Amino acid sequence: MVVTVLSDAQRRKLDDSDDSLFYAEPRFVQHLDGGFRQRLTELYRERLPPCATVLDLMSSWVSHLPDDIRYDRVIGHGLNEQELAANPRLDQRWVQNLNRDQTLPLDDGSVDAALIVAGWQYLQQPEAVAAELLRVVRPHGQLIVAFSNRMFFTKAPQVWTDGGDRDHLLTISSVLMAQGWPRPQLLAEDTRAPGPLGWIGGKGDPFFAVIAERPQ
Ligand SMILES: C[S@@+](CC[C@H](N)C(=O)[O-])C[C@H]1O[C@@H](n2cnc3c(N)ncnc32)[C@H](O)[C@@H]1O
Repeated sequence: MVVTVLSDAQRRKLDDSDDSLFYAEPRFVQHLDGGFRQRLTELYRERLPPCATVLDLMSSWVSHLPDDIRYDRVIGHGLNEQELAANPRLDQRWVQNLNRDQTLPLDDGSVDAALIVAGWQYLQQPEAVAAELLRVVRPHGQLIVAFSNRMFFTKAPQVWTDGGDRDHLLTISSVLMAQGWPRPQLLAEDTRAPGPLGWIGGKGDPFFAVIAERPQ
């Protein structure tokens, strides 16, 4: 059962056209800077066992997993087939608009870890996605939702565009807990800017993560 947390107004976005159109052309760009990506890869190294089956939901041509670790299986999902096909970490992939259909084509308890990077901010039905993630992640498996303070503004629902970083962390937590996830761990950290700016203390994309472990 999906428990509603957001109001209808909070789900609205400026560009309400089909998201598949926005993602029709591949974008072979990095959405997050080097400092953020390094911190995320470090987090994955700490948290994900090498034998894991990993679901990279809302993925693209990059997965941010440590290059030197071979996971048992990495399943990728996104909105652009060409981007996913270019992602060297994916063993399997599918395209699905989660704002149209939130049912994931995966068996109950079939993944050890589910990851979302810079994607949650585009979900108009995050409750249904969180409920599906609770279904497909195995007991004691993990969910890691990472994001920074950037977004495609017209494609993000009001709950994201109206809120600050703290609101984003708290909204994700509320949505997860309403579906039965336990209280997640929240990370909010500065990163160092890439290159010379970082050497003199310049900051990069701020790093936020919500980490939850599926109960038994
Ligand atoms: C900013 S990109 C981040 C991609 C990747 N996770 C990364 O770290 O570079 C946002 C991603 O969210 C996904 N996305 C956005 N809207 C979506 C939707 N309605 N349904 C499914 N996926 C969506 C797409 O896969 C898109 O590549």
